[in-house]
Amino acid sequence: MNILVIGSGGREHAIVHKIKQDGIKNIYCAPGNAGIEELAQCVPLKADDLDGLLKFAQEKKISLTIVGPELPLQAGIVDTFTAHGLAIFGPTKQAAMLETSKAFAKKLLKTYGIPTPAFEVFDSSADAIDYVKTLSFPVVIKADGLASGKGVIIADELSLAISSIKDMMDNRIFGDAGKVILVEEFMKGVESSYFVISNGNTFINVASARDYKRLKDNDLGLNTGGMGSISPSDKLTPELEEKINVRIISPLMDALRKEGIVYKGVLYTGIMISNNDPYVLEFNVRFGDPETQAILPRIESDLVSVLMDSAKGKMFAESITLKKDVGVCVVMASQGYPVAPRTGITIEGLKAAGGKDTFIFHAGTKNEKGTIKTAGGRVLGITALGEDIKTAREKVYKAVNSIIFEGSQYRRDIGL
Ligand code: GLY
Repeated sequence: MNILVIGSGGREHAIVHKIKQDGIKNIYCAPGNAGIEELAQCVPLKADDLDGLLKFAQEKKISLTIVGPELPLQAGIVDTFTAHGLAIFGPTKQAAMLETSKAFAKKLLKTYGIPTPAFEVFDSSADAIDYVKTLSFPVVIKADGLASGKGVIIADELSLAISSIKDMMDNRIFGDAGKVILVEEFMKGVESSYFVISNGNTFINVASARDYKRLKDNDLGLNTGGMGSISPSDKLTPELEEKINVRIISPLMDALRKEGIVYKGVLYTGIMISNNDPYVLEFNVRFGDPETQAILPRIESDLVSVLMDSAKGKMFAESITLKKDVGVCVVMASQGYPVAPRTGITIEGLKAAGGKDTFIFHAGTKNEKGTIKTAGGRVLGITALGEDIKTAREKVYKAVNSIIFEGSQYRRDIGL
């Protein structure tokens, strides 16, 4: 079986690593990175080059394509591949609107009574500003479209709310993603990520996780794509997971069906737990990064079989079974990340750092004549499994401390 994985981050390295363990020999990755190329054949096609990817998949007789990032999903890669008879894991362009349009997602939640913080949608900055003047603070200002994880502002006073609305809607700092915005109730609580996989009819649970979004320890510093993750989430009890399935995931799947939308792929729900009840903060229609790096090493089942059943809309032949172990992933980032990452720095200690239940996932790396160098903001994701969080943390930080590159930044409090 030939499998193509699309993307170039730690998430895609974790996917490639897992499907290799599942016994897949012929793996291609577009475009991949220096770690992925040790397990798969990397092809120099960008994740949004739909024509190039389609031609490649046809030429190589790819049995299953697995899409990592959201951009090709927004561009309709699943629709294109499906129209050409190719199996591809992920939602269609229309179903991907759960992530690509926050207004779409929130209106759907409201229509079907699925718990989510209160909100209003605006397509005029003047109306949005008039509205926020009537509110007490903090409030949340969200760009409707994809904004690389930067489109959510918690405004704790009126002036920040107004400047955020103007930046998004008038100055278009996120381009068309800010043409429409949402003003949302700020809800206090703790956040967790929750992953399921759907085949269009039913869903199976994958795992829960927690993401550490801020650059520095104790949740200080700038927002990033994620500086670490743990799985399972220490904030989700079995009782809460049951509430999420019954109050959120099942009704959402029913709602989508009623709207004539078939959802296939992974659904990653950002959940706020407030007073022991779950609320939807956002949906993502792909695996999270770095959450996936903490989740996939825990999976015992054959992931390829699950992803193939999802892509083909078949009954799941098996569910996802997880090891009892806890996964902790620590991201090592370049100096200057997330503003202006410094690249081209040699990374040392990689070979010695891995080991049993310790995985070195590459993100922004490149191989220059046999030397591995930094090539992006988030450089590596180091994951360790352990029987408890303390053991996993000890293992992961032992590996992190043995990998050296000038200016590296990482958090010391992942899983604390
Ligand atoms: N870790 C956040 C995301 O994948 O969007």
